[in-house]
Amino acid sequence: MKFFRNWGQPPFLKDIAEVFSRRVRSFGETPTGVLWKSSEGQQLRFEILVGILADIKIPEPVSISDFGCGYGAMFDFLSDLPELSKMIYTGYDISEEMIHAAWQRIHDPRATFTEAMKIDRAADFTFVSGTYNLKLLVEDEPWNDYVKSSLKALWPMTKKGLAFNMLDKEHPDQGEGLYYADAGTFMDFCSELSDNVALIDDYPLNEWTIFVRRD
Ligand SMILES: C[S@@+](CC[C@H](N)C(=O)[O-])C[C@H]1O[C@@H](n2cnc3c(N)ncnc32)[C@H](O)[C@@H]1O
Repeated sequence: MKFFRNWGQPPFLKDIAEVFSRRVRSFGETPTGVLWKSSEGQQLRFEILVGILADIKIPEPVSISDFGCGYGAMFDFLSDLPELSKMIYTGYDISEEMIHAAWQRIHDPRATFTEAMKIDRAADFTFVSGTYNLKLLVEDEPWNDYVKSSLKALWPMTKKGLAFNMLDKEHPDQGEGLYYADAGTFMDFCSELSDNVALIDDYPLNEWTIFVRRD
């Protein structure tokens, strides 16, 4: 954990940004362009993540941060939900080309996109889908520390709830350059942030989702 305590930009993020920029240049604003295998999987992740809104009084307008937003697919999904019709959405991404693609594609006064690796404005809900999956050549231990540092930085910028997903360590077929995380370790970590933490791992993807709520 010590290594990332006073981090500026970890050196490996530049390479990761470059991979995603190249991806969107080659495959366009599609699930493949953000390294997802299918549109169904991408949408199912969004459906699971918004489960955090259940049983919470949603403020109006509700503010939403999408950390690692890619080309803004989650905005499309959220904008169809009646309870979020008055949202203020901000998508953050380290890839300049992803942010450019999102701005080109989405012209909605509720949406803003920013090239950044950190969130500096608090929102009611923070969503993170797939952002911690690609680690390239970084070893597991420093990557695990980096993810925890990042979540720790997201939490004070989250007024009501944070929902994030990661690939599951228990999965037998593991792709190269990807990070597979232990759900128990991250549940323990998130329990230090809040007493209200839930694990969702009963959906048909090789991953899990954690909800961290403030109350
Ligand atoms: C697998 S893609 C998913 C994109 C989007 N969430 C979706 O589901 O369509 C992960 C995205 O996270 C971005 N990303 C990775 N690390 C990041 C970081 N530290 N800060 C901001 N964005 C990051 C990548 O550039 C990439 O666009």
